Amino acid sequence: MTSETQDNLLHEERVFPPSPEFAAQANAQPELYERAAADRLNFWAEQARDLVEWQTPFTETLDWSNPPFARWFGDGKLNVTYNCVDRHVEAGHGDRVAIHFEGEPGDTLSLTYRELQDQVSRAANVLQSLGVQTGDRVAVYLPMIPEAVIALLACARIGAPHSVVFGGFSAEALRSRIEDAEAKVVITADGGYRRGNPFALKPAVDEALAQGAESVKHVLTVRRTGQETAWTEGRDVWWSEALAAASDTHEPVWVDAEHPLFILYTSGTTGKPKGILHTTGGYLTQVTYSFKNVFDIKPETDVFWCTADVGWITGHSYVAYGPLSNGATQVLYEGTPDSPHRGRWWEIVQKYRVSILYTAPTAIRTFMKWGEEIPADFDLSSLRLLGSVGENINPEAWIWYRRVIGGDRCPIVDTWWQTETGSILISPLPGITGARPGSAQKPLPGVVASVFDDAGEHLESGSGYLVLDEPWPSMLRGIWGDPERFKETYWSRFPGVYFAGDGANLDHEGDIWLLGRVDDVMNVSGHRLSTAEIESALVSHPKVAEAAVVGAADATTGQIPVAFVIVRSEFAEEAAADGAALSEALRAHVGTEIGAIAKPKKVMLVAELPKTRSGKIMRRLLRDVAENRAVGDTQTLADSSVMDLITQGLKS
Ligand code: WTA
Repeated sequence: MTSETQDNLLHEERVFPPSPEFAAQANAQPELYERAAADRLNFWAEQARDLVEWQTPFTETLDWSNPPFARWFGDGKLNVTYNCVDRHVEAGHGDRVAIHFEGEPGDTLSLTYRELQDQVSRAANVLQSLGVQTGDRVAVYLPMIPEAVIALLACARIGAPHSVVFGGFSAEALRSRIEDAEAKVVITADGGYRRGNPFALKPAVDEALAQGAESVKHVLTVRRTGQETAWTEGRDVWWSEALAAASDTHEPVWVDAEHPLFILYTSGTTGKPKGILHTTGGYLTQVTYSFKNVFDIKPETDVFWCTADVGWITGHSYVAYGPLSNGATQVLYEGTPDSPHRGRWWEIVQKYRVSILYTAPTAIRTFMKWGEEIPADFDLSSLRLLGSVGENINPEAWIWYRRVIGGDRCPIVDTWWQTETGSILISPLPGITGARPGSAQKPLPGVVASVFDDAGEHLESGSGYLVLDEPWPSMLRGIWGDPERFKETYWSRFPGVYFAGDGANLDHEGDIWLLGRVDDVMNVSGHRLSTAEIESALVSHPKVAEAAVVGAADATTGQIPVAFVIVRSEFAEEAAADGAALSEALRAHVGTEIGAIAKPKKVMLVAELPKTRSGKIMRRLLRDVAENRAVGDTQTLADSSVMDLITQGLKS
């Protein structure tokens, strides 16, 4: 965020209180804050008992005797899938629609809770027949189709932690994630649809397995597009055939509250992605709780739609687990907002009478650019609540979202959280909070957050670092296979508290305004990318000597990656002769190493990089160049002429 937008944000004074009608019917009433404040641990124990069914009740709420390794509800036993599916069927809601699926080509499918139970039971039987045992990891690499949710629930049903890899990641990224988690089975599809065309997925799995990933014994493949697919007999299994042959009943495996539920890789400040580990009881409790209160869900009447892909944490918590645990009806959409036309989302809202929409600011800014005449063509009167996640929502986009999409009547919840937090931690509560455009405002009841200064002191007001003072049920339990990195990354900057990596301002009303990452993590269209990860992808190219990547501000996507590359001397002539071709080849190389989302918007070939005397790259100066600004203070550079060289070189 530039300091100018930061300034505007902090001078935002508008307040939008909920209507009396909304407030009166809201799930969350002010006493929720009071109860949580009066006895925080007892509050969480109550939530866990009220919102989740336990096969063996817990007696201990929190064990924090070995921080930062928390145990929540440690002696209880439960099954997540039983809570997300079976209990609703048993309660007589088997005919309620769980998922309205809208495929990009226009095919549709509505699955009731009973049908979901049938599918999930079959898939769980199939996984077990393929040799997956409780505790074994399963990688999931799928498009946004119902099988993605079914696959996650099948894994959870047998206590096999899933590791979802976003379908936009490359074969190489998939291989390294499979290897880190030592997954035994990969669940994938022949392909999916995007912008009117089929794309292939299975070839990336084949390539990943050809390059390594030796732990994988079977590839369970959904037939989605009907594309021609290479087949390895004995290893590859068609999903549809295996499910058809399997039994439709399956006894859930009851696991300990701290049994691993999933691993999800996310970008950090170093080149290697971290496998964020979440466990069963605390995660389910807090995801169910936040979904119920932040989205005010009324399972009998609401239709919820979260536009995130299941490959990200938002898709885990608010597509797969939160809505289903609450017995809600939701929409699942496979494609992009602009295919076959720019009104596709609003057509979906109209068609399914969506009442709660949860999306990212980058999408809202794109719709603003396309113009309000597009949503105006559709009936959006079913909407009653809007949510935002993934990055700061600038007040202008917030106001547009409220007016154009929400018809000036829907409360907006700006929800702050992370892969690591598992569920929403900071957000308005829609029937209580007077919403302020651009602020995520207050920690949810039961969550304790603060803003610290550099020295680790609590700020009463002003800008500093966002921390979480107390453990919370859905907190990450660690980084897969790397307990030291877990301590170092989150618990060492300020001993004893969780450091989120975000800057924040606390105002005089006690509202929190997020100010963006304070580390080398970028936020591109609400997706987290690490500068170091893209740099190491660039340096792995034989023609590259050194690379620096910065996140440059972008009006639509928040940030875009821009790379500065020094070419190895043997290739300097080639670079001078046709720099554009080399830049393009390097962009493509990042696409192969990580995935298309990580491709730098621009690759600038430079002779030098600006460094301090101790050899640290001064990204601040590179960001000035990437954002077309006059270059700032260069006094701390080891060689102050470097920036002149870079800017002159780029001009020529
Ligand atoms: C950013 C996504 C401002 C933040 C759920 C965080 C936000 C990172 C907001 C986590 C918000 C998320 N306002 N910034 N409402 N929500 N962020 O792990 O920088 O993909 O640290 O989780 O997104 O990204 P992640």
